[in-house]
Amino acid sequence: MKIRENVPISTLTTMRLGGAARYVIEIEEDKDLAEAYKFAEDKKLPTYILGGGSNVIGRDGGFDGVIFVNKLHGIYVIDSDPERIRLCAKSGDLLDDLVEYSVKLWNGESYGYSGIEALSKIPGTVGAAPVQNVGAYGQEIKQTLHSVCVYDCKDNCFKHMMADELDLGYRHSIFNTGDGVGRYFITSVTVELHKNWLKPPFYTSLQAYFDERGTKEFTPQVVRDAVAEIRASKLPDPAEFASAGSFFKNVYIKEEEIPAAEAKGIPVWDGGKIPSGWLIEHAGLNGKEFFGMRVSDKAALVLINESAKSYADLAKARQAVIDAVYEKFGYKLEQEPMELGK
Ligand code: EPU
Repeated sequence: MKIRENVPISTLTTMRLGGAARYVIEIEEDKDLAEAYKFAEDKKLPTYILGGGSNVIGRDGGFDGVIFVNKLHGIYVIDSDPERIRLCAKSGDLLDDLVEYSVKLWNGESYGYSGIEALSKIPGTVGAAPVQNVGAYGQEIKQTLHSVCVYDCKDNCFKHMMADELDLGYRHSIFNTGDGVGRYFITSVTVELHKNWLKPPFYTSLQAYFDERGTKEFTPQVVRDAVAEIRASKLPDPAEFASAGSFFKNVYIKEEEIPAAEAKGIPVWDGGKIPSGWLIEHAGLNGKEFFGMRVSDKAALVLINESAKSYADLAKARQAVIDAVYEKFGYKLEQEPMELGK
């Protein structure tokens, strides 16, 4: 267990903004957790858990508390029958490494188990996946999540929780709402994956990719490669550009509001989802820069930190985008990433 003092949050998060955190502790083994929470309790400081920092924005005033950086690693096959397999991954592993593992596993007939291949190349850790029920290209972790192991810092003990106890919804779980915030450190995640589970038609843009290429044989690896290529062509490479993935949530409207939206020419999917990327694009904001933050020209949902020096710059840029979309379409966009500090 390594303890560091006065570490800028900008160095721990992919948006690269934010003042200093008072302490940072690297959690390398499950057994570090009790000691790490005791350290924070003795100092009467709040705690915050970071994985890859790809969905958290640091604020300028820094964090007068203890950040736990998750360094727990390992992927294990824990149970299997001819049709299914359960894989358990420690929460500090990259989600993409778990996906890679799952598509390369021999299933008795061929390579690959299905269920998370569409989550390929999502930045971030395994532990972050249940927190906001990550999803992309037609899959959400909710569909395959079996259970999680957590350290509960309220009861000071480890607990095993089944997926249906986690209230998983769109970018939502018990871990990012109400009393659950800050209470649990997820130590491992178990997913249940299936043999021969791939059923076309796939998510619209994924299916279009296959149709263009005449692809008719689908394996988890084929889907993974397609998603990786679509993401690389649309989303800015996190290694090169500072961003936090989709910066705005999609808008969900009620059934009775759908005709009015459609009358304005706004696309409405899946009984009420309005793609916020479409709204931003059609408000003419692609490629525009505000206060050092650029709206990606390829994926309008992504804000890229070109030269913003502070969270204050980001807040002004965010408001400019929200206002422009509201003026044009009457929908109020909400931020997707979480925030840390004051
Ligand atoms: N669209 C545009 N312009 C854009 C983006 C989207 O017009 O710049 C429209 C298009 O009509 C497109 C539709 O929106 O067909 C849907 O776009 P896409 O499938 O790319 O998905 P999204 O709604 O923009 C969501 C997630 C992404 C995820 C993709 C793919 C949210 C906030 N974002 O984006 O997640 O990768 O679906 O499944 O739900 C993330 O959360 O960081 C993230 C990248």
